[in-house]
Amino acid sequence: MDPNASGLAQRLAEAGQSHLLQFWSKLSPEEQVELTSDLQQMDFQEINSFFEKAMEMSSSSKQEKMDARMEPVPREVLGSVTRDRESLKDWELEGLKCISQSKVAVLLLAGGQGTRLGVSYPKGMYDVGLPSHKTLFQIQAERILKLQQLAEQKHKVKCCIAWYIMTSGRTMDSTREYFSRHNYFGLDKNNIIFFQQGMLPAMDYNGKIIMENKAKLSMAPDGNGGLYRALGNQGILDDMERRGIGFIHVYCVDNILVKVADPSFIGFCVKKGADCGAKVVEKTNPTEAVGVVCKVDGLYQVVEYSEITLATAEKRSADGRLMFNAGNVANHFFSFSFLRDVVQKYEPKLQHHVAQKKIPYVNAEGQLIKPDKPNGIKMEKFVFDIFQFAKTFVVYEVLREDEFSPLKNADSQDAKDTPTTARHALMSLHHRWVLNAGGHFIDENGRHVPAIPSLKDGTDLPIKCEISPLVSYGGEGLEELVKGREFHPNLMIDENRVQELVKNGV
Ligand code: UTP
Repeated sequence: MDPNASGLAQRLAEAGQSHLLQFWSKLSPEEQVELTSDLQQMDFQEINSFFEKAMEMSSSSKQEKMDARMEPVPREVLGSVTRDRESLKDWELEGLKCISQSKVAVLLLAGGQGTRLGVSYPKGMYDVGLPSHKTLFQIQAERILKLQQLAEQKHKVKCCIAWYIMTSGRTMDSTREYFSRHNYFGLDKNNIIFFQQGMLPAMDYNGKIIMENKAKLSMAPDGNGGLYRALGNQGILDDMERRGIGFIHVYCVDNILVKVADPSFIGFCVKKGADCGAKVVEKTNPTEAVGVVCKVDGLYQVVEYSEITLATAEKRSADGRLMFNAGNVANHFFSFSFLRDVVQKYEPKLQHHVAQKKIPYVNAEGQLIKPDKPNGIKMEKFVFDIFQFAKTFVVYEVLREDEFSPLKNADSQDAKDTPTTARHALMSLHHRWVLNAGGHFIDENGRHVPAIPSLKDGTDLPIKCEISPLVSYGGEGLEELVKGREFHPNLMIDENRVQELVKNGV
């Protein structure tokens, strides 16, 4: 339909976005229909106001460093797997009890584009090259399955952990199809709920929407904080209420070590009466570019490394640790009532952050240009933007080597957070589980392999060792399989191959 007759041209003119129709007369009828349909769904006044507010926030935050307004997390709200060992068992039992009552759900943030990793499919489908070749999705699914079993065994009731999976327009179909093709990895498909986050157009610095070709706007997901809007408008809160969910564990798809629905974390948060909790790992290097959880003007938030001075980043407490050391790993606990309040009351107050990007665009001549420096912005909300609204906020510190190894970049020399580092982190954790359960590894000469690999001979590669989550969720239950045994360093323990393990044993 003619955009002048339909009023679309007028709407665009009022919003200062008339350039979106500049190629109209050159488009095929099909392209015209598609472009019209895309444009008709958009609220340009809202998008323009997001742009203005985001740019304003970005320029004011550049001017003022946060240092003077920051306080570290007080010890009373902090739980630590190393410093509170005597409470760990209680927390775990509490978490398992909540799981056995089917009150715990997990919520996976999987709507990102994975641009740095550079694959065209969802990151959760990535195989980092483990001996089993399990993907991130499969590892997480099996951890959920195992945890359900552990809670059921302990409490002698059937239970389920509902799994909410947030995708975006770009990842929804392939994610659904992948789960269906793999028969939901043994989980009940009724307890896996996919939903889709919103998308926003990329804008140039003057607030004009960028076109990726003559008939298409350049669209990107609205950040992992797009979660809150999607929970409301996709009916997910209602679904949680129907199921009687009381507690939600939110996590990112790319952390290969993630303890999905970690009972100790959930139990800690529940026992503290928290409405919101953040899992953190200790930041040990002042210049590491990780956001830290702290208080700013009395409210909790994540402060990025770029928002503070080096002097503050380097400050140390009396115990020698960095003062601002609560490294955020995007791994959160929410009570259902808090999440409901966030969605219904607070979400509209959140502002978008600005990410400057190199965004391919068509120029006035209709040619596709790939810029070599940033030419515009994407607007994103962050999942942790809502900490400020919590009434009882807690922080739970865990060991990085046990729980955090994100997959961000493709393999290359010197790159951080790659398939190789993720694979090594998982195998080295599983190696330690075997040692803790009383097993040993021996080399080809029958000598014990030291628990800490020697860097001297350059063999700082981890031992090849993988334990299926279906056998052990967090290192438990391995004694009967490994205690007193010696293994060659190519050990795979899964539920069908305990025999092979015995065969491998010497
Ligand atoms: P990142 O910010 O690391 O982004 O996401 P990414 O998409 O994985 O990778 P790049 O930046 O394009 O290379 C952290 C987590 O937040 C999710 C991601 O799926 C990942 O689990 N996320 C990110 C969303 O769910 N939605 C978004 O809009 C952005």
